[in-house]
Amino acid sequence: MRILKKIKIASFFVGILIIFWSCTNLFSNENETQEVTVIDQKVENLLSKMTLEEKIGQMNQYNGFWDFTGPAPKGGDAEKKYKDLKNGLVGSMLNVRGVKDVMAVQKVAVEESRLGIPLIIGFDVIHGYKTISPIPIAEAASWDLEAIQKSAAMAALESSAAGINWTFAPMIDISRDARWGRVMEGAGEDPFLGSKIATARINGFQGDELNSNFTIAACAKHFAAYGFVEGGRDYNTVDIGTSTLYNMVFPPFIAAKNAGVKTFMNSFNELNGVPATGNSYLQRDILKEQWDYNGFVVSDWGSITEMIAHGHAKDGAHAAEIALKAGSDMDMESYLYVSHLKNLVDTDKVDIQLIDDAVRRILKVKFELGLFEDPYRYCDLEREKEITGSKKINDAALDIAKKSIVLLKNEGDLLPLKKEGQKIAIIGALASDKTSPLGSWRIAADDHTAVSVLEGMSEYNGNLITFSKGADLTIGKTEFVSELKINTTNKSEFKEAIRVANSADIVVMVLGEHGFQSGEGRSRTSLELPGVQQELLEEIFKVNKNIVLVLNNGRPLAINWADKNIPAIVEAWQLGTQSGHAIAKVLYGDYNPSGKLPMTFPRNIGQVPLYYNYKNTGRPNSPGPEIVFWSHYSDEENTPLYPFGYGLSYTTFNYSDIKIVNSYNSNQKIKVSVDITNTGKRKGKEVIQLYIRDKYASITRPVKELKGFELLELDPGEIKTINFVLTDKELGFYDNNGEWLLENGEFEVFVGGSSETTNKINFELK
Ligand code: BGC
Repeated sequence: MRILKKIKIASFFVGILIIFWSCTNLFSNENETQEVTVIDQKVENLLSKMTLEEKIGQMNQYNGFWDFTGPAPKGGDAEKKYKDLKNGLVGSMLNVRGVKDVMAVQKVAVEESRLGIPLIIGFDVIHGYKTISPIPIAEAASWDLEAIQKSAAMAALESSAAGINWTFAPMIDISRDARWGRVMEGAGEDPFLGSKIATARINGFQGDELNSNFTIAACAKHFAAYGFVEGGRDYNTVDIGTSTLYNMVFPPFIAAKNAGVKTFMNSFNELNGVPATGNSYLQRDILKEQWDYNGFVVSDWGSITEMIAHGHAKDGAHAAEIALKAGSDMDMESYLYVSHLKNLVDTDKVDIQLIDDAVRRILKVKFELGLFEDPYRYCDLEREKEITGSKKINDAALDIAKKSIVLLKNEGDLLPLKKEGQKIAIIGALASDKTSPLGSWRIAADDHTAVSVLEGMSEYNGNLITFSKGADLTIGKTEFVSELKINTTNKSEFKEAIRVANSADIVVMVLGEHGFQSGEGRSRTSLELPGVQQELLEEIFKVNKNIVLVLNNGRPLAINWADKNIPAIVEAWQLGTQSGHAIAKVLYGDYNPSGKLPMTFPRNIGQVPLYYNYKNTGRPNSPGPEIVFWSHYSDEENTPLYPFGYGLSYTTFNYSDIKIVNSYNSNQKIKVSVDITNTGKRKGKEVIQLYIRDKYASITRPVKELKGFELLELDPGEIKTINFVLTDKELGFYDNNGEWLLENGEFEVFVGGSSETTNKINFELK
């Protein structure tokens, strides 16, 4: 087998290198190389002492399973897991959190197992730990890489203080399908923006030194193409071509690898007939060979077992064999490696070198985290107390929350609100909700800990505020794991809301999705306001037209009616712990909104998947009235309601004088410059976006591709020139064999404040 041969050759060379190093101390002048080699040597030393069972144990990850600080469990699954831990048959645990609990399990691994190898403790620190920052798609809307990196760094700070040293984040799946509930976890639809954000998040989590007590290992997930599940239905089949795979799906993963991400997670979906977990092309050929990735790959939860249901593996042993051979290094909660790998080696079905390769990768990350020096380095009760929920972390959460808000409409400058003398009616169940703003994937946060819109608005005391919920959004339980029941019938509180709205100067309506309507397992076939909220909105509109609609949601919504009728619309996603404060600051103008959409908002769900970087087709334009033979819908426009990159401000910006400063031939770079002026009366920030269009190519290119952006703050009347540089990296693309191509021809360059900008200039690559 080709892969095995390569691993054998690689191991041979590692061995030779280590012997050589020991004799000559060859790398004494190169700190980094020396450090890597020292760790490699430690890994080899340890590996040489391990039994086959202990090696397999490192590849086994269990979910938290008993009252860790109580007596050892007796009977059942928990007792088995506890014994495995003592016997060195567990390399990692997930969902064990808090210093006390982490300390308890770590103690068993370190002090009771034969070799005392510390556990790596994983957790889904997706957007904060206890203190919750905006859901990732909201953070992406800030386009503020510094703030995004800081948010991840704060999440690392808080979670590391709770004993965690590995997050299953960032999720960097590109997705064009708003029906898919997991779009809330990603950075949206664009691979360029997605790559920049992937890098920022990884740098935030991992910091400059992985072995600092304040940083944690990151995990690029889900490899690969999970965002392209058919119909947006979670866990569904993926069947996409190589052009999409290379140009849309892979770029953020390449960026993650280049940023030094320590781990990858594979995905639940099959890709073109082969489940990602058993996909040797993805994990061995592309990731480990072509990209030369030397971290480890963890399976997704139970995804090794799921290969049986996929119809790819006969039974558990077969699934374990396929997964290992395909490059899945650690088994999350399938129990199949620990149950079958030994026998698979003993019966020569699996070569031990594959196991050694996986264990080397896992041990290396543990050494890099500094766990062998001090397995309890993340376990300091005092530090946990001091850091959890601290001001520093909350300040950062508020900062990114403000920056994540997108102003979608502001007719007649209804916003910002006046701070005094107004009667403001706040309407909507979500306005007083202190749980929903935490969003999905916030397992460690306590319910009712977010600042609600009502609380945030009430801190401004110059206006008279009245509140009416209007209608419940949900009925019954709203727990993390439960399917939400939405109120579709009860309108008994409409009357009171209409009364309150009737006597108000301004109505702020907070409507949208509950935090648990998006996330894993929460796909939807409708993108409209759930339940009776649309009706409520229309009823209120009948008595008061001065409505500010504040949307809370984890995915793009189709809000055609609101866009036509409601004068002001604010996209406020699920903004986390500081949600209400951030929203109030934007509504009152203490923060001038600067967010831009990272995902297209459709007019109608029938348009989905809808995305800005689409292909032109052979029939892009109407040939004339009454002629149907062109690429369109007969009952809806092709265009989105709000395009990718779109977002307003309380000021306005003008783009002028786009220039190509130097041609490509002079130095294989093209410099594009543009002048931006703040033409309004307030200071404001604008995300200046550059798109290219490669007008003809051997593989057709999208009508627009984002290739640069810059966040710029301008005073009223101020003008600044921004330069962008385009190199082969921005101008080329992958062909269908994964080869990078740069082709001569005509290009258009667009620079503006959204993907629909028409400010453009042309150049030719000769
Ligand atoms: C999700 C992963 C997550 C894992 C562990 C799975 O269901 O797909 O993204 O990291 O669970 O919680």
